[in-house]
Formats: sequence, structure tokens, C-alpha cells
Amino acid sequence: METVTETIGREPAEQITENWSADAPRGGRAVMNRMIKESATVPLFFAQTLIQSLRDVGYNHTTSALCEHVDNAYQAGASEIRIYFRQNKRKEGGAIDVAVYDNGKGMAPAVLKAATAFGGSLNFGNRDGIGRFGMGMKTAALSLSPVMELYSWQEPRAIYSMTLDIEAIGRDKSNLVELPDPTLHSEFSYELSSLFTSWMIFPSDHAEQTRVAEDENDLVEKLGRSGTLVYMPECDRLTYAKAKTLVEHAMKEMARVYRRQIASGLKLYVNNRLVEAFDPTYSMANARHTRFLDESMPRQSRLVISKPVNIRLNENEAATAQIQIKIYKLPIEEWSTLPRKTQKNDLRIFDGLTVSMLRNDREVFAGSLPKITTRHSVTNWYRVQIDFPGTLDEAFGVASNKQGVRLKGYVEEAIKEAIGDDITTMNDEIRQFQAAQNARRGAGRPSTGELKASEADAFQAKPLEPLTEEEQQQVDANLRGLAVTLKRDDETDEQAFERIKNSQYIIAFKHDPYWPFYDVSHQFGRVILTINTAHAFFTALYEPVSKIGIPAVSDDDDDFVVASSEQHGPTVALDLLLLSLARTQSRLSKTNEDAHKLIDTMRREWSEAYRVQMSMI
Ligand SMILES: Nc1ncnc2c1ncn2[C@@H]1O[C@H](COP(=O)(O)OP(=O)(O)OP(=O)(O)O)[C@@H](O)[C@H]1O
Ligand SMILES: [Mg+2]
Repeated sequence: METVTETIGREPAEQITENWSADAPRGGRAVMNRMIKESATVPLFFAQTLIQSLRDVGYNHTTSALCEHVDNAYQAGASEIRIYFRQNKRKEGGAIDVAVYDNGKGMAPAVLKAATAFGGSLNFGNRDGIGRFGMGMKTAALSLSPVMELYSWQEPRAIYSMTLDIEAIGRDKSNLVELPDPTLHSEFSYELSSLFTSWMIFPSDHAEQTRVAEDENDLVEKLGRSGTLVYMPECDRLTYAKAKTLVEHAMKEMARVYRRQIASGLKLYVNNRLVEAFDPTYSMANARHTRFLDESMPRQSRLVISKPVNIRLNENEAATAQIQIKIYKLPIEEWSTLPRKTQKNDLRIFDGLTVSMLRNDREVFAGSLPKITTRHSVTNWYRVQIDFPGTLDEAFGVASNKQGVRLKGYVEEAIKEAIGDDITTMNDEIRQFQAAQNARRGAGRPSTGELKASEADAFQAKPLEPLTEEEQQQVDANLRGLAVTLKRDDETDEQAFERIKNSQYIIAFKHDPYWPFYDVSHQFGRVILTINTAHAFFTALYEPVSKIGIPAVSDDDDDFVVASSEQHGPTVALDLLLLSLARTQSRLSKTNEDAHKLIDTMRREWSEAYRVQMSMI
């Protein structure tokens, strides 16, 4: 316990900030103390501490923070933007410097200074472009590094710079922290110029890298008349520790986020590697996916619906703005015949990006929106694209760091109202196509349950009655006859024969309202179980269980393949329950006539009792 005298004896500064952490900004302590003890002027924004808190604005990912700089560069009219992740072996712990360069219009010194301030923007509140909050550049840079160095030029050899250094600001003891004037440089320091002239560690194959200039002498000319560089040295808060992973993630995401800008001519590089547009809707003729499709394949999805929808700016406001919803159907008939690797790794069909939303042409959301499209795996085969204007930011829930959307309830309703029926129709169509395809895949092959029951026979304690010699001799001919009677709608005679020949257990279906729920026969060494599709056993239990087969979209879309070519666990278990019953029944029935009668009576009575009970639910 502290005594009263001890508390009184302390320095006043320590008392006021006694709950501050030991590493809190020292300048901040002094200012806080002065404000409280000496009634000094209190600024609305307390720079020494606030700048540290702003580091945690919360970007989802290093890539999404860097998108703020790309946004700014694009808005400044850049035709070339380059992102660098420089893994520096010489620096301690392999620290990574991150930089974003563009050849846009640059900033005049006074603009540069104002733009460095939080809230400083030339686009404040403008809903037509990308930036509107005056925050992006600063919060994004500081979210990665404790220092932001900003360089901009509007004529060669006149590079102006500004720096935001969290620690330096934290040490500042003035009540009102002011930004200094920009510094003028005639050239970049080696630390910066080498970004443009050196090879990055990754990609390791230099053939993949296109540098701005091969040496310093060319640099001034190659950098162009105007431009901007945001430099974030020794980043301490990156999503990954390796340049390789950072580069790969940035390339993958930005290829999609800036697809329209790239398609209309923007050259975007990450570590000197050119980013190619990736279109999750597969509707762009020149996007990455087309590389993996030869002449025999359709190269684009098909636009099936295009609807303008008016959305209220706010729930209680009459004013509206228009969004454009488009639905594209992937060429499932053709693309589903492609090798799995092409579908997955090259076309990226199963990445779960069913819905893409673009705000003023820049993608702000890509993912699934189960409330609108459901979670079923059929959603992999179409895409919904929603274009909305900046005036609907409140309606779409766009936050200042532009990290996705949080649709207001009434917006979700309006979208559902506009396309809900179309989505249902599309889900049904694709489901039907898949069911037909699954049936085709199964043609000529026993089901998993049938195969497992056959395999298990070698391990059963009590053997089934073997074939008679006569049957054995004619087994092929007999099985051909049997196959014709058991042939499924989608099978040829030959496929049915193959299937029956390769399985000792067979499940068949029959529709008869006056028949028990199953029947068993044992012919030519085959145990044949017939399920009555008219009985409640089938409609209320068997069929629903077999439909669990296709699970919802998940990260690991491999389940989908298992489900479509083989049966799902519960279906197999249910088939085996029935096949073990069939086996037991046919074995016991052969032992004597009384057993046969008793078992048959049991089957009929059980079936009827079950039917009556099921009619109650
Ligand atoms: N690469 C650039 N080239 C030219 N001007 C730029 C560049 N980056 C930033 N600016 C200027 O700096 C200002 C501040 O940028 P910042 O990203 O902080 O805010 P913003 O883009 O206006 O709004 P938001 O917070 O929505 O991004 C911009 O308004 C723009 O005038
Ligand atoms: Mg911005």
C-alpha cells in the first residue's frame, strides 16, 4: 500500500499520467500535465498520443492498407504505380521497407504539407472519386511503420518531402504540434534511389522483374516529370514476415481490386512484377483467366441479368441513387469438364467470391453474401456484381478505411427484392445440372455403400450361401439378364452389366404405394435390396439423407468433389444399415421355410406399422 505522503511527494507529472504505460510518449506526459495543472490551451487533437492511437485504425491486411496509396496514386492520374516490399538482409531481423511510387501529377509543396495533416485532403467529402476522408495515406502508412516519409515532385530534381515520425511527435513537448515546411532535395538518397534500380530479393528470377531504371544516371529521366513516393521504412506491423508472401498476396488482391483500372491501361507493379487483371465475374475479355482457356472453351461468363435499382441514401430519406446489379453465369457445361487443377488454381472458381461490389469502379468487397445467394456450392457457378456510387457510402456501410461493406438492412432487402427470384432460379438450374452430372458419373459404377458391403463380406462371421455350380457356369449370362431388369434410367445395358458384375450388393428402387418399404432377393450371388420410393421411409428419411451429400461452400472446396463423385458419410451408413439387413434376411431365409415366412411377415408388418406412425408427422 502506498502512503499519502509518498503520493504527495511525487512529481506532479507522474501523478496525472500514473496510469499511462511506461513507454507512452514523454512529450505527451509533459503536455498532459501542463494542460491539467497549468490550464494551458487544450488542442482538439492531442497529437502526441493520438498519432499512436491512429496506428490501430484497423486494416484487414497489409495489402488493404497499401490500397489506400494506390487509390491516391490513381486519383492523381498515375499511369504507372509500383509497390515495393524490400526485404533488407542487412537490417536487423530482415526488416522490410515498403514503398509506393506513382507517376501521377504530384503535389506542390504547400499541398504536400497540407496533405500530411490528418484530415488534410484535396478531395474532402467528394463522392465521385475514391478518396474523401483526408485520412487514408497517413493512417495506412502508420498502420505498417512508425514512420511515413512522403516525397513528391512536379519537375525533375525538385523533390519535396515531409515526414511523420510517431516517436519524434511523441517526444514533442509543445501543446500544439505543427508540421514543418517540406524539405527540398535535388535527388533521392541511395536508400530510396536503390528501390528503383536494384533487384528485389523476390521474385528471385530477375527475368520476372522490370525495374524503373538500370542505374542511378537514368533515374531522373525514367521517373518522369511528376510523381509521388510514400516510403514506410522498417515496417513493424506487416501481415507476413516474408517479402515473397506479401508480394503474392498483394498481387492476387490488387489484380482483382483494380481490375477495371488495369483493363483501361494502368500499369501496376509489385516488386517489379506487372499485375494482370483478375476478373472474378469472368466477364472481362482480357483478364487473367482467359489465358487458361483454349479455343474449344468459352472464355467468358454470360451476362444473364442486368438491373438498375434505386436505393435510398438513408433509410428515412426519399432521395435515391442508382446501383447496377449484374448476374453472370459461368459456362458450367464446358468448364466443369476442365481438369480440377485448372478450375481451382488457374480459374479460381471455388474461391467463394460469388459477390463483388465496386464503389466508383474500385472493388470494395469480394466474397459471399449468404443472405442473398445462400451458401450452397452451386453459388460457385455464377457471380453477382454490384456497382454503387460514393453517394451510397452510408447505405452500403463504407468506413473511412474502405475495408469492405456493411450493408444496411433496407439495402439488403432492396437487393433481395430485385434479384432474389433470379438467384433462386439460377440455384435450381445449377443444382439440376449437377445432379444430372453426378448421375452420369455414377453410371456403370456401384455406389460407395454397395462396394463397402461387398468388401466387408470377406470379414463376415457367417458366410452367405455360395453359388450353385450351374449358376457359376452361367453367371455372366445370368447377370446380363439381371442387369437389364436393374438398369437405371441413365445407364446403357453394358454399364448396368458392369455395375452388377462388380458388386455383390445392389440397391434398386421401385415405386409402389402398396408395397413394404423394402424387399430383398438373393440371386446369382447378388444380394439385391429394393427400396420403395413411395413409402415414407424413402421420402422422409432416405432421400433427405442422400441429399446432405453436397455440403455448403467451405474454404476447402475439396469436399464438394468427394460429395459429387462418391457418397456422403451418412448416406453410406444408411445404405450399409439396409444392406446388412438384406444380408441377414437372405441368409436366415435360406436356412428353413419357417424362418423365411417369419422374416417376411416381420418385414410387411414392420413396414405397415412404420407407415402408420410416419403418417402422424
Ligand atoms: N500519390 C499522390 N499523388 C498526388 N496527391 C496525393 C497522393 N496521395 C495523396 N495525395 C493528396 O493528399 C491528400 C490526402 O490523401 P489521403 O489519402 O490522406 O486522403 P484522401 O485521399 O483525400 O481521403 P481518404 O481518407 O478517403 O483516402 C489527397 O486528397 C491528395 O490531394
Ligand atoms: Mg486517399
